[in-house]
Amino acid sequence: MWFSKKTTVIALFFVTICMVQRVLSQDLINIEVKNLLKMQHGLGWPYVLRVAEGNEALLRLDKKLEDLKSCDITTPFGLTFDVQSPPSNRYAKWSDGCGVRIRSIAMTDEGRWRMTATAGNNSFTGWSEVYVEESKSTYSAAPIALRDGETETEVELTSLENSYCLVSKPFSESSLVPGHCSVTLDRATRAIQGSWNILLGLPGQVSELEVQRQVTVETERLDVGYVYDRSENKLHLYCNILHTSKNITFCRFQKTSESFGYNIGDGLSDGRHSYYGDGFALKQCGLTLENPTANDYGTWRCSVGVQMWEGNVIRPQTPMQALISVPQDAVGLRIAGQIRNSDDEDVRTIFVQSYMPFTITCKANVSLSYCWFQHPNGTQYTPAQRLDEEQLFWYTGESLQTGDCGITFSHTTSEDAGKWICHMGPRDQLGIEITDHVVLRVTGSLAANKKEVGTNIGRTATLYCHTANGNRPLDYCRFLSPNFVGIRIDESVTENSAILNRYYFTPNRSLDYGDCSLTISPVNEEDIGVWTCAALIDQETLEGRDVITLYIDASTAPLFTAGIVGISLGAVVLVVALVGVLLYKRYWPKLPWRRTSSPSSSVDNFSMESMSQTSYDQ
Ligand SMILES: *[C@@H]1O[C@H](CO)[C@@H](O)[C@H](O)[C@H]1NC(C)=O
Ligand SMILES: *[C@@H]1O[C@H](CO)[C@@H](O)[C@H](O)[C@H]1NC(C)=O
Ligand SMILES: *[C@@H]1O[C@H](CO)[C@@H](O)[C@H](O)[C@H]1NC(C)=O
Ligand SMILES: *[C@@H]1O[C@H](CO)[C@@H](O)[C@H](O)[C@H]1NC(C)=O
Ligand SMILES: *[C@@H]1O[C@H](CO)[C@@H](O)[C@H](O)[C@H]1NC(C)=O
Repeated sequence: MWFSKKTTVIALFFVTICMVQRVLSQDLINIEVKNLLKMQHGLGWPYVLRVAEGNEALLRLDKKLEDLKSCDITTPFGLTFDVQSPPSNRYAKWSDGCGVRIRSIAMTDEGRWRMTATAGNNSFTGWSEVYVEESKSTYSAAPIALRDGETETEVELTSLENSYCLVSKPFSESSLVPGHCSVTLDRATRAIQGSWNILLGLPGQVSELEVQRQVTVETERLDVGYVYDRSENKLHLYCNILHTSKNITFCRFQKTSESFGYNIGDGLSDGRHSYYGDGFALKQCGLTLENPTANDYGTWRCSVGVQMWEGNVIRPQTPMQALISVPQDAVGLRIAGQIRNSDDEDVRTIFVQSYMPFTITCKANVSLSYCWFQHPNGTQYTPAQRLDEEQLFWYTGESLQTGDCGITFSHTTSEDAGKWICHMGPRDQLGIEITDHVVLRVTGSLAANKKEVGTNIGRTATLYCHTANGNRPLDYCRFLSPNFVGIRIDESVTENSAILNRYYFTPNRSLDYGDCSLTISPVNEEDIGVWTCAALIDQETLEGRDVITLYIDASTAPLFTAGIVGISLGAVVLVVALVGVLLYKRYWPKLPWRRTSSPSSSVDNFSMESMSQTSYDQ
């Protein structure tokens, strides 16, 4: 367009020259000089001006004349005035030459502005094309949502046509972006969240446009919980994936106290367990329990299978898991008799051989966000993923999401023995951490469960040794008594086939699982003292060995004493009975208490108590 105009102007120019020559030579036609010169070249500067409403336009002829006599301006709507005496204060003279300043540009100012300069007998006319743009003082757009960990993400900051922009993210230097306003992030993290301040350079507008964009960075996560629908008596458990590009492949729920789970899918039910949610397509995984029973409360584990694109193939990913705790009182239901007393539970003891790796595990019934361990000497260890062979310790377990808190150390020293405390930070709650403790014993390859066993004559005692570092099969198992009687036993020696009528292998234990365990029943005087247990562990060359002291525990009465008491009591009862019989025979018809029951029930009670003593030690 510009080019064609210029060509026209040049063409006109030549035509004019010719005409002037003809006029001068022929002196025939009297052409008005004013008009002629008006057609002559005299471009405005700038030739094209884009200006936003409210701004000012500065126009002038690009040619300067000596002794300028007048400067006339013709507006697009046809008003002509001398710039020295403008019709309103919107207009003012601008520059040394012939120019005009137009204040607060409005839409009506769009068009061709002509400027005519006159000096002596010369006069020049030029024009500028003015395009008026809408003024932009505000720009708003929806918040920008990014996914945590996204890489090489291009973020469009405005859809406006701009020549540059200055972007400042929270807590970082601002950066100048030429042209279209967008930035590429190497990696999206939550640190870039917040309000981004953007200054835009827009055409026709001197003042920069300030734009605020809210940026949120969402982390892919499981949204877990439960809903109790009182009116329908339904318990819904859900495990939905938020902010993900992955697709669900399966959905499984399992009560942690049960050994089986439920395979839940869109539109599937077995009558009592049904799918809950808006579908796999919306990344929702849920279970509805109809008419929940006491068994349905407690801790549930949900496992969600996922897959995603890796390059141009779809690959299954590690399933996402979490725990859901459904307390009974949450649904206004209280079921009595469910509380288990943990006081009677023994402290967990782990046996480990020196220099061998060892693992300590704790388990929470809620999803965790972290866990750490306290060494018996107070040092803290926070397990991390195992990355290389040299690592001293690393995380062990399924995942923090499933409440697993475990640590493995590459080797043990005797200093590691003692009470270890695990600290677990629940995912959805602040405050005191959950703790548990485990006792670590550093032993040889075969270790006594209890180094000292209290008992008494006539009672039952168990001497229990087993392999350190987990269950390893034994080739044989033997014991040496305090008076040096060697006994070799295995599972085939039972109570019925007891050696010397009192030594047998502890029931429900097995050489295959690393147990070398002797039950003595009844304990004799000569059994009191130091015993040795020994076994050869499969694949090893050296026999493993430990010692156990069997001692008289004064707090338990010897069983034979109880027997004597029983006998004497029995005798008393017998005498009473005899006396009773005699009295009965003599006074039967006269006795007033003849309908009361016999006193023999007290004897039954006693015998039951003495039988209950035959329990096994750990
Ligand atoms: C202007 O033109 C007039 C006659 O047309 C002439 O007398 C005068 O000298 C010219 N002035 C200049 C400065 O050329
Ligand atoms: C989880 O364990 C804590 C104590 O360890 C217990 O108080 C709580 O009731 C348990 N929650 C469920 C749902 O089993
Ligand atoms: C997820 O499902 C959608 C719709 O069925 C499909 O377009 C997409 O490719 C799937 N992605 C993966 C990773 O399977
Ligand atoms: C605690 O024991 C560990 C392992 O033996 C050792 O590395 C650490 O220095 C000890 N810390 C203290 C405070 O003694
Ligand atoms: C051995 O195991 C069986 C079945 O698991 C059980 O019924 C029995 O009470 C156990 N015996 C002892 C002595 O623990």
